[in-house]
Amino acid sequence: MLAKKRILLIISSSVAAFKATDIARQLIKKGASVKVILTKNATEFVSPLTLAALTGEAAITELFDLTREQEIGHIELSRDADLVVVAPCTANLMAKMAHGIADDLASTTLLATDKHVLVAPAMNVRMWLHPATQRNLAQLKADGIHFVGPDVGMMACNEEGPGRLAEPESIIEAIDALLDARIDDSKKPLSGKHVLITAGPTHEPIDPVRYIANRSSGKQGYALAAAARAAGAEVTLVSGPVSLDPPAGVTCIRVETAQQMHDAVSDHLPSDVAIMAAAVADWKVANQGAEKIKKKPDGSLPELHFSENPDIARFVGTHPSQRPNLVVGFAAETQNLETNAGAKLKKKGVDWIIANDVSPETGIMGGDRNSVKIVRADGIETWPDMEKGEVAQRLIERIAQALDGMMKV
Ligand code: C5P
Repeated sequence: MLAKKRILLIISSSVAAFKATDIARQLIKKGASVKVILTKNATEFVSPLTLAALTGEAAITELFDLTREQEIGHIELSRDADLVVVAPCTANLMAKMAHGIADDLASTTLLATDKHVLVAPAMNVRMWLHPATQRNLAQLKADGIHFVGPDVGMMACNEEGPGRLAEPESIIEAIDALLDARIDDSKKPLSGKHVLITAGPTHEPIDPVRYIANRSSGKQGYALAAAARAAGAEVTLVSGPVSLDPPAGVTCIRVETAQQMHDAVSDHLPSDVAIMAAAVADWKVANQGAEKIKKKPDGSLPELHFSENPDIARFVGTHPSQRPNLVVGFAAETQNLETNAGAKLKKKGVDWIIANDVSPETGIMGGDRNSVKIVRADGIETWPDMEKGEVAQRLIERIAQALDGMMKV
């Protein structure tokens, strides 16, 4: 699968940088073409000349080399690549990527690319385990960056633990797998489609330390995001506070309140499909305390006043210029499921409502299983009880069929 593939290899300054020559050599041997960017400090560990000799192309190091920038700008570098690989990637470069810093050719190219990026970190074990690096790792994963390694073992600094650059063979395997997945994407049912999904609860602050929430776990929405991604879609997941990791390859925007969720959804339109699986709070506290509300000496109780939150599903379903081709809402009800779901279909301007009974005895809210009804203008379909992952897969299949020729939606 590597034959004729164009790899942009970014090498940053780790003692493991010498292994990058091995990666380049193996890629070339398998028929790929390799362009190399070295950070300035990486040139201390590995010679640009060696890489140029290996790849047959000059290894590029400086952003502000104007002649070169005219010949081959950083945008072209990533435009011409099938995959961008950062190996080894230092803690510093990971931090820059996580924060969108672009202050040299490597980081600028990484900010400018719209290609899949595979990162192979290499650093001292304590740098790897530092909360800042772990935060950056989580952010980069949420941004859809792919990782291979680091391996656990003895390092150049004589310390043992996670932080070693993955072996060149594993990096080549990861490159191969990613290119495979990318190629397959073009044949998948939702390839080329943007699917916007909301998931989880919202938190509505009462004061700086208290909030009103609900029992939504986000499991169904996250399963839908994973299924849509697996079906080849570009997925934006706007998530309320949950304790789930976003599925690989999905762009996850984390929000807290309904208003923030609304704004994030609005920012990420247009999309081909919108699936509104979040349990959005209907109301927010209108008289939020700027400071923590204290008990009153006379024992009188605080009074909360509410105002209405934006209805995100309705905003999307009735959008005058950017309405997705298919808008799917959810209805979590504890009574009159079908009647209430049917009413929501009209009120929110959505095409389908996935209705479920969330009475406590069903165990659906927070649980792993779901039993749903698909409510459409032309009828109601009842699905048997199944895992949330299976509901997601089936629903995504249905959505793909509906888009394909815009079935009788
Ligand atoms: O009105 P209700 O909350 O029951 O409607 C549920 C559907 O509407 C779900 O799809 C939910 O994600 C969406 N919704 C929304 N914004 C709100 C309330 C609900 O997007 N403020």
